[in-house]
Amino acid sequence: MRKKIAIGTVNFGMAYGVGEGCYQVTRQQIEQMLEYCVDQRLDLFDTAPAYGNSECVLGEICPSGAKIVTKVVKLEVDVVTENAIQTLEDGLQCSLKQLSTSSVYGLLVHNVDDLFKLGAEKIVAWMMGLKERGLVRKIGVSAYSLAEVNALYTKHRFDLVQLPINLFDQRFLASGTLDWLHDSGVEIHARSLFMKGLLLKEICPREADAVLKAHHKHFLDYLVHSSLHAFDVCMMFATSLKVVDRWVLGFSKLAQLKEVVEWKETESVRRVHLSKWSLDSHTSVDPRTWK
Ligand SMILES: NC(=O)c1ccc[n+]([C@@H]2O[C@H](COP(=O)([O-])OP(=O)(O)OC[C@H]3O[C@@H](n4cnc5c(N)ncnc54)[C@H](OP(=O)(O)O)[C@@H]3O)[C@@H](O)[C@H]2O)c1
Repeated sequence: MRKKIAIGTVNFGMAYGVGEGCYQVTRQQIEQMLEYCVDQRLDLFDTAPAYGNSECVLGEICPSGAKIVTKVVKLEVDVVTENAIQTLEDGLQCSLKQLSTSSVYGLLVHNVDDLFKLGAEKIVAWMMGLKERGLVRKIGVSAYSLAEVNALYTKHRFDLVQLPINLFDQRFLASGTLDWLHDSGVEIHARSLFMKGLLLKEICPREADAVLKAHHKHFLDYLVHSSLHAFDVCMMFATSLKVVDRWVLGFSKLAQLKEVVEWKETESVRRVHLSKWSLDSHTSVDPRTWK
């Protein structure tokens, strides 16, 4: 698992999380985590212009030689014109400056809707050109839904995808999309293993809807009954998905990161029926719908 960890940095630059866990990580905690990343050779960091000052923080203290994945700025127009592409180019140049680097490992479209607008092929052509210019190694999309991934990855030759997967949200796994992406040579970065932290809480945060709250309660009862911990079950779930190249994980302190790095599977957690915990409500598992 250690080799697959990528550090999610939204909470390096702004308050993020659920319930009591919604806050920005302090500079001291970030420095401790990055020091540990160097020690453990954890080399991939996920950021975005939309993550407050996350890019600036990484630019100041990111370990040298680290791989950075950042995102394309959101377009505020309905039609993609040459002016819109200039906005994206300016956004990328700003990211590179803030990150103190001349190139990044990955660049993802953050607002997928932009790729369905009139003239969207210009965005893809611009991103392809960035690879030729040596500014970016891999391009792709940060997606939320199956429909987005199916439409975009059958049409375009993207190298990388970031998508949500966890014990409750197994849409990309159950549909065979993960295997299909992997077989197509797409590098898969999975996020939301802990559902923004919700899966590891003993009380379901207020943000969740009634369906998710009921499913979470059922899960907690099962854990008590089986003498298992949610963290172990989530880690077992991650370990079981061999086709995922990287797990983009968020941490609010060094101890959490260490726990993931040092985790070892046990016989009891190996017996958990993981697919049973998939929740069919697409709305409930999407954090964007949480209040
Ligand atoms: N559309 C997008 O592009 C997009 C959207 C969302 C996220 N992301 C990326 O994904 C990253 C991760 O976000 P996520 O939503 O996927 O979060 P996540 O990794 O599912 O959950 C992170 C939270 O899990 C809890 N946690 C982690 N390790 C733990 C441990 N050992 N013990 C107990 N709790 C632990 C912490 O919650 P507490 O702080 O409450 O303790 C932490 O803040 C972000 O930083 C960002 O880089 C991208």
